[in-house]
Parts: sequence; structure tokens; C-alpha cells
Amino acid sequence: MAQDTGTVTQAGGYKRIVYVISMVAALGGLLFGLDQGFIANSLAALTEHYKFGVQGGESYSAILATGGIVGALLSGIFARFLGRKKSLVLAGFIFTAASGYSALLPPLAILSACRFALGFAVGIASFIVPLYLSETAPAKIRGSMGTLFQLMITIGIFLIALSNVFIARTFTTPATSLPLMFLTVTLFAALMFAGAFMLPESPRWLMLKGRKERAIAVLRKTLNTQQEIDTEIGEIEEALHGPKGAGVGIVFRGYFFRVLVVGVLLQMFQQLVGINMMIYYSPTIFGYAGMTGLVAMMTVPTVNMLFTFPAIRLVEKWGRKKLLYVGAVSMLITMLAAGLAFQSIGVASDPAAIGGLPKAVLLVSVIVYIFGFAVSWGPVVWLVCSEVFPLEGREVGMTITTMVNWTFAGLVMANALSFMGVHGNASIFYVFAGFCVLAIAFVALFVPETKGITLEEMEINLKNGVRLRDLGNRASS
Ligand code: BGC
Repeated sequence: MAQDTGTVTQAGGYKRIVYVISMVAALGGLLFGLDQGFIANSLAALTEHYKFGVQGGESYSAILATGGIVGALLSGIFARFLGRKKSLVLAGFIFTAASGYSALLPPLAILSACRFALGFAVGIASFIVPLYLSETAPAKIRGSMGTLFQLMITIGIFLIALSNVFIARTFTTPATSLPLMFLTVTLFAALMFAGAFMLPESPRWLMLKGRKERAIAVLRKTLNTQQEIDTEIGEIEEALHGPKGAGVGIVFRGYFFRVLVVGVLLQMFQQLVGINMMIYYSPTIFGYAGMTGLVAMMTVPTVNMLFTFPAIRLVEKWGRKKLLYVGAVSMLITMLAAGLAFQSIGVASDPAAIGGLPKAVLLVSVIVYIFGFAVSWGPVVWLVCSEVFPLEGREVGMTITTMVNWTFAGLVMANALSFMGVHGNASIFYVFAGFCVLAIAFVALFVPETKGITLEEMEINLKNGVRLRDLGNRASS
């Protein structure tokens, strides 16, 4: 095996292929972020070039979510029948083709079809990347790999904001700026596509398909000693002989249904607190308050990225529920403050004449709001959804909850701006504040603390009929 470059052990103790695995996985998260964050600073150019109104812009933005729902629905099937590696190659290809074709600025219907395809690829990647990592990355770095994916989403949102702002300021005609914006995404997509070819297939999937020899060959590439390989193979065999992944019928089993409701509502609230109104439309909303400079364009993506870093440590230190409370309360207060700021502005005929105070209140509110989300509901909801389902229903549970996330994300993207148009700029902030209140009550009554308990213990509690919010308590037996 020494002649294979993939087997060279690096100074840090991991083989080169492990770095390739981490990089491609990171690119999967990055592309999620690039596509999610694309709209904020391209919407003005898109609106000018395609001559669509507010609703046209919302529809184009939201179709990513529709693609995400379909991608998430089918990703389990791809993962099982095509394998993890080929599914990632497929996602990389769709990312590259759809963003590359968008750069040609085709008619709106085709541009929208490309954005649907991008959403489809995001849906696949967001399911397969964490799955692939959990099956392929060496045990010691699996935890940090999982959080790396989350972090990459926010880095992607930040990077595309930065590059879109730079492009829009350098090239003021949309016919020039838009292709460059799409080509930036294409560049990273092509890297992921090429990188995915170099990945080894997941040893767990190979074993599932009865290809033990190939699974061992992959483990020789990623692990260092024969003992590690034997242990891993033993664990996989044990898991394969354990309970098989259940079909969708599992949702009708009482214990599973209870925990599914927790996952579904967590994902629903993650979106109904309004995060994607900010991620997608913050430059537009700041514009309504007469703020148009760099601050309006870069505040949300920068704060969002910066506060995801501490979240990774806090989630283990403080626990999930405390963070959810801190986040929801921060978002509640700041949504009310932003609503009041817009109410005091009223219907401004000249945004440039708006006073300094409401602008300052709005800016501080948005910063604290994004802090509140990034440090809590952003990473914690995905984490809890990956922890609460019993093993046999984990795939079904995560597929359903991911689809719920995209459904409500789409609802917000498709309606936030027109809602402001119809009911007044302040109204939407009060609606989201209302959902923050419901989210706090929901966390208090139903969400378990999953810190410091093994997934197996939680499963025993669940099947013993323990109250949902007590699922994370140590079983007394
Ligand atoms: C959410 C996305 C959101 C992103 C912002 C994720 O956890 O699911 O909808 O755009 O966080 O960082």
C-alpha cells in the first residue's frame, strides 16, 4: 500500500486521503452557503436585468427551497442505491452545470430551473455529506467534522456576499456582473465535482452491499494500523446485524411519532423566527430604512459567520436548551425593537431623510438578532435532529425534518417582502417575534436536553415512554 499516494501518513497522524475527504465535505457545506447567500447582494442586479418585481424576486429566491425539498426527499434513495460517493459526484455535477448555465443569463424560466437544480443538489449534499463523514472520517475527528459542515455554510454565505458586493461595485451593468457572480459559484462547484471523484467510497456502504474486500481496502487508505481496521470492520459488521433501518411506516409507531414532532417543530421554528428573511433580504430591508452602504450589505453574513465559531464550543459547555433560550430571547427582543424602528419611520417618502436613531436601533437589533440565531438555533437544531431519533428511524426522521426546514424556509423567502409591502414594514418583525414566543414555550415544554447522554440511553428512555422533555435525563435503571 505504500506506493499509493493516498496512504501517505502526514505529520499530524492522518493520511492524505483524510484531508481530501474533509476538503470535499467542506466544499459541500460551502456550496450550500454560496447558494443560500447568493441572493442578498445580487437581487438588485437580477431585478434590473430580468425586470421582475418584488414577487418575481421572491419566487426566484424561494425556488431553491423547492429543489431542496425534492433533493432531501430523494437523497436517502440515492445514498442507498447509488452509494455515497456517486451521490456526491452527482451533486457536484449538478452544482457545476446549474451555476455554469445560469452564468449565460438564460430566459427567466430556465434560470429558475437552474436554481431549482441548485436547491436539489443542496438537498442531496446536506444529507449525504454528514452521512459520508460519519461513515468515513476516522472516529477521532468525526465530531469536529460534523460541526465543520455547519461552519462552512456560514462561511459560504459570507464569501458570496463579499464577492457579490465586490463584483456589483466593480461592474455596474448586470449583464456583466451577474455572469461573474454565477461563475464564482461555478468555480467552487467544479472543485467539489473534481474532488468527489477522488473520494473513496464509504466502507459502511460497501459492507452493506457485501463488498468486504473493497471496504477493507478503503480503510487501509484512511486508517493507520491493522488493529484500527479490524475494530472498524467489527463495528460495521455488528451494526449491520443490528436493527435494520426502518421504512417510512415507522412514523406510525407511537414512540417515534412523539420524537418526530419535536424534530419537525424545531425545524419549523428555526425558519419561522425569520432567519432567511435576513439572510436573503437584509440589504433590501436596510434599504427601506435608507441604509445602502457596505454595512447594509455585509453585517448579516459577517455576524452570522463569526458567532457560529463560539456556538461549536458552547453547545457542549452550556447544553442545547440553554442556547436555544438565549437565542430565542435575543431574537424576540430584537425583532420587537426592529419593528418599533420601522414603525417610527412610518412610510418614508424619502429614505435618505430618515433620522439616525431608528437606523441605529435597526442596525443594533439586526446584529444582536443574527448573533442570537448563529449561536443557537442555527447549529443546535440540526444537531438535536441528528441525535433524537432512534437508530432504526434516523434516516426517515432526518429526511422528514430536513424537508420541513426547507418548506418553511421557502415560505419565508417567498413571502417576507410582499408581506411587508401589504401590511407595512414593521408588521413582519412582529410576526416573527410572535413565533419566538411560541418557540420559547415549545423548548420549555417539549425539547429534551441532549448534552452528555448517549444516543442509546435516550433511545431507551423514549421507548420506555419517558416525557419528551426528560428524554435526556439518565435512565434510573
Ligand atoms: C439554516 C438556514 C440558514 C442558515 C444561516 C441554517 O442552520 O437551516 O436556513 O440560512 O442556517 O446560517
